[in-house]
Amino acid sequence: MGDYQFQDRQPQVMKDNVYLLGEAIERAPELKGVPTGVKGFDELFFKVEWEEGKPVKKPLGGIPEYAVVNLTGMPDTGKSLMAEQFTVKQASLGQKVCFVTVESPAAFVAAGLKQRATAMGIDFEEIENNIILIDAASNSKLRDDIPTMLDTLAYVYRTYHCRKTVIDSITGLFEAKEMLARSIVRAFFNFMKKWYQTAIFVSQKRSGHDELSAEAAGGYAVGHIVDCTVVLSKEILLSPNRAKAFKKELGDILRILRIDGCRLCGHDTRLHLMEITELGLVEVKEPLVEYLKGAK
Ligand SMILES: Nc1ncnc2c1ncn2[C@@H]1O[C@H](COP(=O)(O)OP(=O)(O)O)[C@@H](O)[C@H]1O
Ligand SMILES: [Mg+2]
Repeated sequence: MGDYQFQDRQPQVMKDNVYLLGEAIERAPELKGVPTGVKGFDELFFKVEWEEGKPVKKPLGGIPEYAVVNLTGMPDTGKSLMAEQFTVKQASLGQKVCFVTVESPAAFVAAGLKQRATAMGIDFEEIENNIILIDAASNSKLRDDIPTMLDTLAYVYRTYHCRKTVIDSITGLFEAKEMLARSIVRAFFNFMKKWYQTAIFVSQKRSGHDELSAEAAGGYAVGHIVDCTVVLSKEILLSPNRAKAFKKELGDILRILRIDGCRLCGHDTRLHLMEITELGLVEVKEPLVEYLKGAK
């Protein structure tokens, strides 16, 4: 008998997790955009509103509020810069941002944030008390013991009333235990939801991964669990044909950004050119197809 081992079991009904749609909607957040400080990026998200009997596409002006966004790419594609721009922008708007650094110790991240603020024309004094750093790079217990990290996050959320979180990087939290990637990402994702965070999880791709796929270290774990995935790629144009095809010079860098998916709102699905300016700011440019048309 297939169910014989359950014979003596008493039913355990999780009534707290059963909702009538009408009750659940009462607690549903309104769809709003959270500006990222990355030029050209916020316009790629939109919502649909009903106007005069027709659905109309309206720009969201940022990533959807309370979303957990996975920002993935190979090394040097601009993930940390984008994460820092988001942090500085939100702090400049008076939001408290919790920045969990897993790769680079706090002092280096602070220096990076200061540079980003300068490049964005934002006074450091305006933001320094709005950004709370958790230095997991310098503390292996924070990196390796998930409950300790979550307790520390909860402490920060309670003390500073944060509603924005950046983790750079989430893959750094399962470096030596990739088989646990799914459960670790899931634990952080659920925690963000519980605390109503709008979050950016940076995740690293490996050289074996397809450049523009949503896959990151730990397999598809990250992409499947989060609300939204943004992929960054970089190619050095080393062949004359390839350079010519993209209307660039031999040796130029071709940077591309793509929103792989977002389950909370509508979004642009095209490949977009991307640049890292001399000041160290990520900017999203026109869609690749438009660029290729225009550059003919
Ligand atoms: N302050 C800066 N000024 C100019 N370029 C920068 C600056 N900081 C970083 N970059 C460029 O941006 C690239 C991407 O940086 P980063 O966001 O740290 O990459 P990732 O986090 O994806 O590994 C760097 O390799 C560098 O070329
Ligand atoms: Mg980085």
